[in-house]
Amino acid sequence: MTESTPSLSCSLSGKTIALGVSGSIAAYRAADLTSELRRVGANVHVVMTESATKFISALTLGTLSRHPVLSSFWDEEGWQPGHIELADKIDLFLVAPATAQQLGNYANGLAPDLLGAIYLATKAQVILAPAMNGKMYEHEAVQKNLETLKGRGVEIIEPVVGELACGYEGIGKLASVDVIVKNVVDAI
Ligand SMILES: Cc1cc2nc3c(=O)[nH]c(=O)nc-3n(C[C@H](O)[C@H](O)[C@H](O)COP(=O)(O)O)c2cc1C
Repeated sequence: MTESTPSLSCSLSGKTIALGVSGSIAAYRAADLTSELRRVGANVHVVMTESATKFISALTLGTLSRHPVLSSFWDEEGWQPGHIELADKIDLFLVAPATAQQLGNYANGLAPDLLGAIYLATKAQVILAPAMNGKMYEHEAVQKNLETLKGRGVEIIEPVVGELACGYEGIGKLASVDVIVKNVVDAI
């Protein structure tokens, strides 16, 4: 990974990113994404959904990001909720992978979890990298949510065609770490 994106070195220096990780099988790739964002200089704070913790541990992402991982409203300490503090200070809110559930939450203004709350509370640029079964991705409901989000200025990093964890071949695979990082660098 380090060899593949040398030109981006330190391009995110001084920038703070909240990396949301939701409950897709692609959540394991958040480890490489966290490392790569850090390598190019970003200060990365990982926020996970409860489902995401079934796919990759907070310990892994906390160690790679070098910051504590937020995953529940109810574990936060201090007078100001940690997710609001984070929403205020970030330069960019990136969710990768973003599940169908997350797209629906953001499109409809729902905050059942920390990611939904940060989406609503932040003024930072938002980038979402969806990953899901191809039929889910192409469903009218998901496409409508994506259109709604794009209409609000949210950047969507389209998933790619490939072999999916569900056993099918098709669209829905999380974009590569290089592509996601390039989009983040271009956006900031
Ligand atoms: C093995 C497995 C893989 C899954 N992969 C995906 C996926 O890639 N994309 C997706 O939208 N949902 C996927 N799901 C379903 C989500 O985990 C489920 O909708 C969950 O409620 C998402 O919650 P979250 O958005 O709060 O993380 C998967 C579920 C399982 C059991």
